[in-house]
Amino acid sequence: MSDFEWELIATNDEIEGKSRLSVVVDDTPALLIQLGSFWYVVEDVCTHDGQPLTDGEIINGEIKCPRHGARFDIKTGIAKCMPATQPIRIFEVSVREDGIYSRPYSEKDLKSMQEANEREEIERTSGSAGGQAALVDLDVASSNSGDGNAGTEAESDGTELPSEAAMLDKLKSVIDPELFVNIVDLGLVYDISRKDENENEVVLTMTLTSPACPAGPQLIAQAKEALESLPGVEKAEIKMTLSPAWTPEMMTEEARDQLGIF
Ligand code: FES
Repeated sequence: MSDFEWELIATNDEIEGKSRLSVVVDDTPALLIQLGSFWYVVEDVCTHDGQPLTDGEIINGEIKCPRHGARFDIKTGIAKCMPATQPIRIFEVSVREDGIYSRPYSEKDLKSMQEANEREEIERTSGSAGGQAALVDLDVASSNSGDGNAGTEAESDGTELPSEAAMLDKLKSVIDPELFVNIVDLGLVYDISRKDENENEVVLTMTLTSPACPAGPQLIAQAKEALESLPGVEKAEIKMTLSPAWTPEMMTEEARDQLGIF
């Protein structure tokens, strides 16, 4: 139960015929947004760099920051795609006879809601990823080293498997369409290994910046294509993992600079 008082944030006249309205809750600029027959209130500021979300496009229950394209779930506030990594604040809503009321959630309610939502999201994504890639746990010892000395040189039927450095270099041609940074510098590549049963087949283990990032299928397909275009790679298998979860610290310094994350 919240300790805050309900505030009337929009009268029936003010919301007549609208599905979005700028409001103020708890002295905080916010957006009242209608999704289907329900109303939600979110703080009107992007957690990446403070851009108001006022005119952000709304797609499938998410609001997109007009500046760099981060997206947030309107119901939960969760950041769905980089460059934002922190949720936006959400407020409790009550629709009454004279209009719409809102108030801040208690810290305890917010925390338990967000934990439940994140768990649900990870379970949902894990369940739906099977069509494209298996989810695995992995050893990240070689994550982003890029030094190319991991001993993947091998020969089979006279064809030499490229070095790890060469494969990482090729993977730099795969660019995240939202962030315009390659998957290696983003820190999405966790491991490349040769298959025991066929030395010309490789297994790439990678992750995504967010379990729900819509660019996932495209990045997986392009990473596979990039590796299989290299002479000596007969087949590339892509394994997607959420463990460990990606964090901005996994990016190279150049990628962080490019995205304005310090
Ligand atoms: S300010 Fe919103 S994504 Fe950068």
